[in-house]
Amino acid sequence: MATFGTPSSAGVPESITSQTAVLPLDDEEALENFFAEHGDKLAAVIIEGIPANNGLLIQRHDYIRLIRALTEKHGALMIFDEVITGFRLGLGGAAAYYGITPDLLTYGKSIGGGMPVGAFGGRAEIMDMLSPLGPVYQAGTLSGNPLAMVAGYTTLKKLEDGKIYKELEEKNRRFVTDITEQLRDCKVNIAGVASIFWIVFQPELPRSAQTINNAGITHYNRIHEKVLNRGIYLPPSGYEVCFISSVHPDNMLANTANTLANIIRQEAHSWNN
Ligand SMILES: Cc1ncc(COP(=O)(O)O)c(C=O)c1O
Repeated sequence: MATFGTPSSAGVPESITSQTAVLPLDDEEALENFFAEHGDKLAAVIIEGIPANNGLLIQRHDYIRLIRALTEKHGALMIFDEVITGFRLGLGGAAAYYGITPDLLTYGKSIGGGMPVGAFGGRAEIMDMLSPLGPVYQAGTLSGNPLAMVAGYTTLKKLEDGKIYKELEEKNRRFVTDITEQLRDCKVNIAGVASIFWIVFQPELPRSAQTINNAGITHYNRIHEKVLNRGIYLPPSGYEVCFISSVHPDNMLANTANTLANIIRQEAHSWNN
C-alpha cells in the first residue's frame, strides 16, 4: 500500500479503527506518552519486529525492549508479527534477534516450505484459551491442511540444525558488502539482515517510514526496468525487500551485484539530491 500512498484499506469501519492507535516507529517518547495516558486500558501492542513490508526498517534493540517493558508493566500483550522474519532470520526469528520473548507471535511464508501456511503461537496460558480447551474458536477451510502441514513440518525439520542460516547469512553479507563497496561514492545504502536486503537511496539507513526518502522510489523504478532487461528481477516496488535463497549460486550473486552496482552508478549521475 505504501507504493500507492494508501494508509489503510476501504471497508474497515470506524468503530474498529477507533479502537486502534498507530504510533510512529523508532520513537520512545511517543511510546512512553501513549502508555502514560492509555497503558492500563491497552489489550496489546502489535509490531513487525523488523518491518520488512515497507522497506527493511531494522529497529534499535532499546526501542523494542522498551515496548516489552511497557507492555509487561501495564499488563498488555506484546504481539510480534513474524510473518516475514519468522524462521527466516533463524529459528528464533526477530524475537531472538532482539533477545525478547513476546506473548504471541504470528507466522507465515517460509514456515510453509512453499505451501500456503499461516500460524500463531505464544505463551501456554494464552494458547489454552483456544478451543477445545478454551472459548476462542479458530478454524477455516485451509486450517491444518495436511499437504501444507507436511511441507511446513519437513522444512522446519531441515532448518533445525541451523546450518542453512549460517550459509544464507554469509551469502547475503558478501552480496551486500560487494555492492556497498562498489557504490561507496553514491548516496546508496543497502540494509541487510540474515538473508534479507533492501536497496535505499539515501546515505543513512531509515528506521521508520517517515524517514524513507520517497524520491528514491523513482530512482528504484528506473533501476528496476534496466536490471530487468539484463535478466535480474527485483521486486516490483521499491518498498519491498529482496531475499537471498540457498539455491542462488555464488557466481550468480556476484554477477547480480556487479550489474546492479553498474546500473545504479550510471543512474546516480542524473540524481541531484
Ligand atoms: C509482515 C506481514 N504480516 C502479515 C501478513 C499477512 O499475512 P497473512 O496473509 O497470513 O494474513 C503479511 C503478508 O504479506 C506480511 O508480510
